[in-house]
Amino acid sequence: MRASAARQLAFAALAGALVSTGAAAPPPPADAPQKVPVAVGYGGAVASVDADASAAGIAVLRAGGNAVDAAIATAAALGVTEPYSAGIGGGGYLVHYDAATRRVQTIDGRETAPATATETLFQENGVPIPFEEGQTSGRSVGVPGTPATWKAALDAWGTKPLAQLLRPAEKLARDGFTVDATFRAQTQANQDRFKDFPDTRKLFLPGGQLPVVGSTFKNPDLAATYAELARKGTGALYRGPLADDIVKAVRRPPVDPAATRKVRSGDLTAADLRAYETRRQAPTHIDYRGLDVYSMAPSSSGGTTVGEALNILERTDLSKLSEAQYLHRFIEASRISFADRGRWVGDPAAQSVPTRELLSQRYADSRSCLIRPDATLTSPLAPGDPLHPAPCGGTAQAAPTTYEGENTTHLTVADRWGNVVSYTLTIESTGGSAITVPGRGFLLNNELTDFSFAPAAPGVPDPNLPGPGKRPRSSMSPTIVLDHGRPVLAVGSPGGATIITTVLQTLIGHLDRGLPLVDAIKAPRASQRNQTTTELEPALWNSPLRAELEGLGQAFRQNPEIGAATGVQRLPDGRWLAAAETTRRGGGSAMVVRPQGRP
Ligand code: GLY
Repeated sequence: MRASAARQLAFAALAGALVSTGAAAPPPPADAPQKVPVAVGYGGAVASVDADASAAGIAVLRAGGNAVDAAIATAAALGVTEPYSAGIGGGGYLVHYDAATRRVQTIDGRETAPATATETLFQENGVPIPFEEGQTSGRSVGVPGTPATWKAALDAWGTKPLAQLLRPAEKLARDGFTVDATFRAQTQANQDRFKDFPDTRKLFLPGGQLPVVGSTFKNPDLAATYAELARKGTGALYRGPLADDIVKAVRRPPVDPAATRKVRSGDLTAADLRAYETRRQAPTHIDYRGLDVYSMAPSSSGGTTVGEALNILERTDLSKLSEAQYLHRFIEASRISFADRGRWVGDPAAQSVPTRELLSQRYADSRSCLIRPDATLTSPLAPGDPLHPAPCGGTAQAAPTTYEGENTTHLTVADRWGNVVSYTLTIESTGGSAITVPGRGFLLNNELTDFSFAPAAPGVPDPNLPGPGKRPRSSMSPTIVLDHGRPVLAVGSPGGATIITTVLQTLIGHLDRGLPLVDAIKAPRASQRNQTTTELEPALWNSPLRAELEGLGQAFRQNPEIGAATGVQRLPDGRWLAAAETTRRGGGSAMVVRPQGRP
């Protein structure tokens, strides 16, 4: 994609023609960055789902930028090549390790609800609207947090001007990137909603057709939007003409008059955009077998839920268990921590959230005694009370886990100085709200669908109901692990609520089961979220392990693909290892600055 030579132009012209004919396209240029799932070397590392995005980050590191600079360049490029997962129309969470101070800090760049939002945002006549109708609507659009996150990160830790960091992404948007099978499949999955929005249709269904694999996809409107942000700063998204365009698109969604779909408007105002601020709360922290595990505090449930599960699992030597017992423990710890997540975690600005108590070892011990090696807990499992931990106790208020889509993207970066960024960002559904801001080249999020549309169970308090200026509970779990104050590992994943189980499984696969990071990422996944059945990827579904686990009372359903993790690891010899998926989402992209040579 980055290839700039005449060869690339010739290829682009040919592929452009092929888009309209629908004919098979030639393979991408040989000098386009290739996807590899693992890379080892010096000078810093980047892992993301996309080779052009990783290459953008590596170019910044090579030019002397630090991990934050590179993370922003990578994220901006993902907004071009992964526009259905993330972009300036969405939000996310960034966790940063500062090598100079040895501190881990975070930025909460979550989208926020309009000031007028109430608990009944997604209800009509006292009844929740269908999820799909909330998903494709102006109603679900929160104030984007991604541009403000970039500014906050650059102000705090960056070394390069935003304009410089946006340049690779702007070029990528202007010159185009090579369509792969994943991009085409994601477009196809959205075709039915995209066709109802003329601006979205024009951009993502050129000529009314799906983009052809191998063709070049250009987004000149997004290139111009990035150029505008480069000139004016990220504040341009929050006040002025671009902000006005966003407000207009939310309040009067630009739907084809011929469309039969009912598209509800939202109540976002210019004042809502102007009022947006990122938050800088402390990271979550637990001690896990002598390592310090840091992640995202509420409004994300990632840090508390992964952390509580790790605390529960810490009481067992996972390295010594059979594969079935290991998975059983992982599933049960996930079930318990999801029960607690549902009852206790929401936006802490809207109600009190017992973050510290959920992460106390005393509380985990009071919950871990529920796990038996020869039996399975029943879901929905009642939450415990972290404020008054009682051995094996629970409240009487079981509630199921509310629905969340599986989407989003994660990138992980380390630099030569030892700074690390773990950054998960999203527009919520794959394809977000399906609303492209006219003339601006990016999709708006539908993040507010991460709120509960109604209490998860009658009479059970639900901390995740919508409210004015509130942030919907997230599952994003960007994680950094330190050993004696120095980073050894950073991971994260997309996947809605499965993010939590994917990050947890990757951490224990690597730390406890001794899998190399890329194999811990590759391992077939299970995901239990306080539901009657646990999701299994096909490799586990088709394995004899399933029968063994069913013998313990576990019940399963299939999920073809769970998560798309990336990570970096500091090897004992000082080299960085970047790791990504081998096959999920078409495989990820791991890169280092110098694969050979010396520090
Ligand atoms: N929208 C995905 C998440 O926040 O977890």
